[in-house]
Amino acid sequence: MKRIFEKYDLNGKTALITGAAGLLGVEHAAALLESGAMVVITDIGEAGLASASASLSRNADAARILTRIKDVSRLDAIRAVADELAATGRRVDILVNNAAIDPKVKGDHGVGETSRLENFPLEQWDLQVAVGLTGAFLCSQVFGTTMAGDGKGGVILNIASDLSVFSPDQRLYRKEGLADEMQPVKPVTYSVIKAGLVGLTRYLATYWADCGVRANALSPAGVFNGQGEEFVQRLTSLIPLGRMASRDEYRAVVQFLCSDASAYLNGQNIVMDGGRSAW
Ligand SMILES: NC(=O)c1ccc[n+]([C@@H]2O[C@H](COP(=O)([O-])OP(=O)(O)OC[C@H]3O[C@@H](n4cnc5c(N)ncnc54)[C@H](O)[C@@H]3O)[C@@H](O)[C@H]2O)c1
Repeated sequence: MKRIFEKYDLNGKTALITGAAGLLGVEHAAALLESGAMVVITDIGEAGLASASASLSRNADAARILTRIKDVSRLDAIRAVADELAATGRRVDILVNNAAIDPKVKGDHGVGETSRLENFPLEQWDLQVAVGLTGAFLCSQVFGTTMAGDGKGGVILNIASDLSVFSPDQRLYRKEGLADEMQPVKPVTYSVIKAGLVGLTRYLATYWADCGVRANALSPAGVFNGQGEEFVQRLTSLIPLGRMASRDEYRAVVQFLCSDASAYLNGQNIVMDGGRSAW
């Protein structure tokens, strides 16, 4: 590795990524593999993890990829993975809290659009908060405690969203011909969870700072993944760079945030949104 990139070198480090079978989780894993880390990719389903692992091993030694099924909303499941890794001498140096339930805004056209605040089901609130916010807290509690406790420190990266810093523009999701009270919206949970993750980040950043544990948040904006033309046009008109992000565009910042290249960055929320929040 050239001298200027030495601080990015993650050889000898292990990174655990939650929700790693999804669109961005697999990209975070690819980024950290590229920097030399061993990765533990975790998610709720075996099939998703198998396909993520297969795609990652096209460009990296399969021996550096471990897969573990882990529901981030269950403390016992997190502890089981942590204990099993510890028993085999594997220390988690980097934790990427990426898992979330990101309900796509479609609209059910039925009686009482359930994405709307007035009708939003409590069970959905509980489920989404349990995964996106409580899950990040529980994983940080389990893996962060070890990072802080053994004197070697570590890095926690929380994946938030541009919706951690501004409110969803509900006009993006409007459907022609539907009455206002039937219009689908980005649900309240997403804003609450992502803003909460930034609060968690600041808390962790100061709590374990003297033990060498840094915590930062990355707030990506909409990634293009085949969304409809009308939606893309509406969204990109709000973005100074005039386009959505591509799925691999967050890799370099993940490499930066998880390595010594960002050794003096702590408690920050890096908003990578093509300039949308600057407008
Ligand atoms: N894709 C985007 O445009 C975008 C934009 C901004 C922020 N984000 C954030 O980036 C992160 C990844 O987004 P994505 O687009 O890859 O989402 P995704 O839905 O493709 O992936 C999320 C993953 O989390 C997993 N998951 C769900 N419940 C879980 C649980 N209980 N325990 C463990 N894993 C669970 C899912 O199985 C899935 O693989 C999320 O935090 C999301 O909010 C995404």
